[in-house]
Amino acid sequence: MDAGQWLVNNRYRMEAVHYKRNHLDVVTNIDQQNEARITERIKAAFPDHQIISEESQFGHTNYSSLDEDYYCWIVDPLDGTVNYVHDFTYYCVSIGVAKKGKLVAGVVYDPNRKELFSAVQGKGAYLNGKRIRVSERSIKQSVGHTGYTAADWSTDSPLRFEFSKCYARLRNIKIAGSAGLDLAYTACGRIDAFWQRSLSPWDIAAGILLVSEAGGRITDFSGQAFDLQQGNIVATNQVIHEKITELLMGGTRDA
Ligand code: IPD
Ligand code: CA
Ligand code: CA
Ligand code: CA
Repeated sequence: MDAGQWLVNNRYRMEAVHYKRNHLDVVTNIDQQNEARITERIKAAFPDHQIISEESQFGHTNYSSLDEDYYCWIVDPLDGTVNYVHDFTYYCVSIGVAKKGKLVAGVVYDPNRKELFSAVQGKGAYLNGKRIRVSERSIKQSVGHTGYTAADWSTDSPLRFEFSKCYARLRNIKIAGSAGLDLAYTACGRIDAFWQRSLSPWDIAAGILLVSEAGGRITDFSGQAFDLQQGNIVATNQVIHEKITELLMGGTRDA
């Protein structure tokens, strides 16, 4: 919670915004400084644990420490950097803990609303200490969140067709800009589904545990078991899962 409040308190100190891969992929001094603060605390409290964190791991694609027999913290110090830069208050701190490839604990904190989403494996998911559950909405009552990258739209990608297929069936679809909060909102039933390709472990580790502990379902786009390292995620309230994956997989030109 302290790490999230620090983001809000220090926004006035934000300096130049740097591009990483492209103009959509930005980082600020605040991302880096919050990451340093969080990882220092983890190291001080748990010197034997591993840490995977976005800004120090950028460019790496091998996250083998996730599968090892020790605790591995997966840290996104600011999920929703573009929103933060624009002072659009939909961003969070997301921290998950994994062991032997399984998520054992996760927190997503929204400092603007003072909402702490938390989950421990087998113990349920909570919002500010109150148990949360996914929704029971049907497909036509549902709101979905998603996200795309520049590359997704630049070619003949099937993504644009899958978007239009889903848009025709759901109540609404939004690109809100924080995968961590999108999953937390799915967990507490504010929205009913979230899907996106090519995410990194720090974007979704905590949120995955929130959704599964809140009774939701998580797979890849073809409905197969989800793999944290591969990052193509579909998370829903269970009820609409098959329909959503069917729509996503059928996202062809005839939409
Ligand atoms: C981003 C957000 C966004 C998603 C991007 C992520 P960041 O994380 O989660 O919603 O669409 O793919 O990279 O860079 O703001 O931590
Ligand atoms: Ca980033
Ligand atoms: Ca992120
Ligand atoms: Ca980030």
